[in-house]
Amino acid sequence: MLSEKQREYRRSATRVWNVKTGATRSGKTYGDYFLLPGRLLSGRGCEGLNVILGSTRGTIARNLLEPMQTIYGQSLVGDIHGDGVAVLFGQPCHCLGADSVRQVNRLRGCSVKYCYGDEVTTWHPDMFEMLKSRLDKAYSRFDGTCNPAGPTHWFKRFLDQGGESLYQQAYTIDDNPFNPPQVVERMKRDYAGTVYYDRYIRGLWVAAEGAVYRLFADDPGRFAMDATELPAHPLCTATLGVDFGGNGSGHAFCCTGFTRGFSGMITLCEWYHKGEITPERLETAFADFARDCAVRFGAHTAYCDSAEPTLIQGLRAVCLRERLPMEVRRARKGRINDRIRFLCRMMAGGRYRLLGACPHTREALTTALWDARHPTQDVRLDDGTTNIDSLDALEYSFEPYMEEMSAMV
Ligand SMILES: Nc1ncnc2c1ncn2[C@@H]1O[C@H](COP(=O)(O)OP(=O)(O)OP(=O)(O)O)[C@@H](O)[C@H]1O
Ligand SMILES: [Mg+2]
Repeated sequence: MLSEKQREYRRSATRVWNVKTGATRSGKTYGDYFLLPGRLLSGRGCEGLNVILGSTRGTIARNLLEPMQTIYGQSLVGDIHGDGVAVLFGQPCHCLGADSVRQVNRLRGCSVKYCYGDEVTTWHPDMFEMLKSRLDKAYSRFDGTCNPAGPTHWFKRFLDQGGESLYQQAYTIDDNPFNPPQVVERMKRDYAGTVYYDRYIRGLWVAAEGAVYRLFADDPGRFAMDATELPAHPLCTATLGVDFGGNGSGHAFCCTGFTRGFSGMITLCEWYHKGEITPERLETAFADFARDCAVRFGAHTAYCDSAEPTLIQGLRAVCLRERLPMEVRRARKGRINDRIRFLCRMMAGGRYRLLGACPHTREALTTALWDARHPTQDVRLDDGTTNIDSLDALEYSFEPYMEEMSAMV
């Protein structure tokens, strides 16, 4: 059974551009699992490509293909092959990650008969411009969804132009009657007090301004934990994050502990150095930090800024030499804004604390600002006036467990 909004979309999304924007978990994508077969089959035999654009191929698989495989089975909805093609209902579909400009050329010179667009606001604008010129058949169609971004975002400007060829629908979280009430309650609580409440709950295009971690900046004391409280919060694992400095930025290490059942996370320990340092001194500092965190908190993996492979090799070597039980790996480095949104949720949900022994991280979280020079996009200020290094190290340390933490109610 479809929601009222989903039924309305089925009836009215008959233009070239059909777009759903709005809150998270509001039912924007679900209706498309049942719309796509018809869209693809109606173009059968017509000239042009079917294209699925998402932020990355991974998110296309996760948001679209995997749920559809559960509904229709693998024989009707295939996986993405090495060449980027997935066969859906017998129709080849080119799946492209649209967040980088490198992929734009994949569309050059082709006609697109059908495009499904996921997370449109995360795309590179050139990709969207290219797509506009490729939907050139009388029967070309686009269905797309996204969560809102800032009010001057390029996609919002496109939507505001309106016109005959555009149908659009805006959702709030309450437009999905199938959401369990306790999930909606939790989401509202988790986004309270941040720009994300307006965007992901109310579905509004609102600018990210001022403090990035507003709840934290307003009352850092609320997030402080005394070391004597630690025994009441048994850890299931702990990780290190390492950010390498250079060009005026500092070197930072962070140790984050995850409480049992991934109910919470605690910044336990930090190290920060601004200014020149020899690789040898950096290695010695890391060895001391890693030993301390392994002994006190059971940390066993360090996730490092992948931009510095030589320094990572150095940390690996020192761990071997000193026989430290620490695996040194490259950080995943996913989208910065995903990490920020995640940490804001953890803060709002009362699931993030930091020990008093981490003044640099505390200061970094208090002073982080959205960059006013980038009103069209959410960009965290990184001009050397605030400490981004401690934030990077903190994010590399929690990044591997973002999914586990998010899955916990
Ligand atoms: N008609 C429906 N019947 C049953 N379940 C539904 C229906 N519509 C949505 N849902 C469920 O509600 C949840 C959220 O729906 P959906 O994934 O479509 O939201 P969304 O708006 O695309 O969210 P996001 O912006 O986070 O991508 C999903 O678990 C989905 O299975
Ligand atoms: Mg969705």
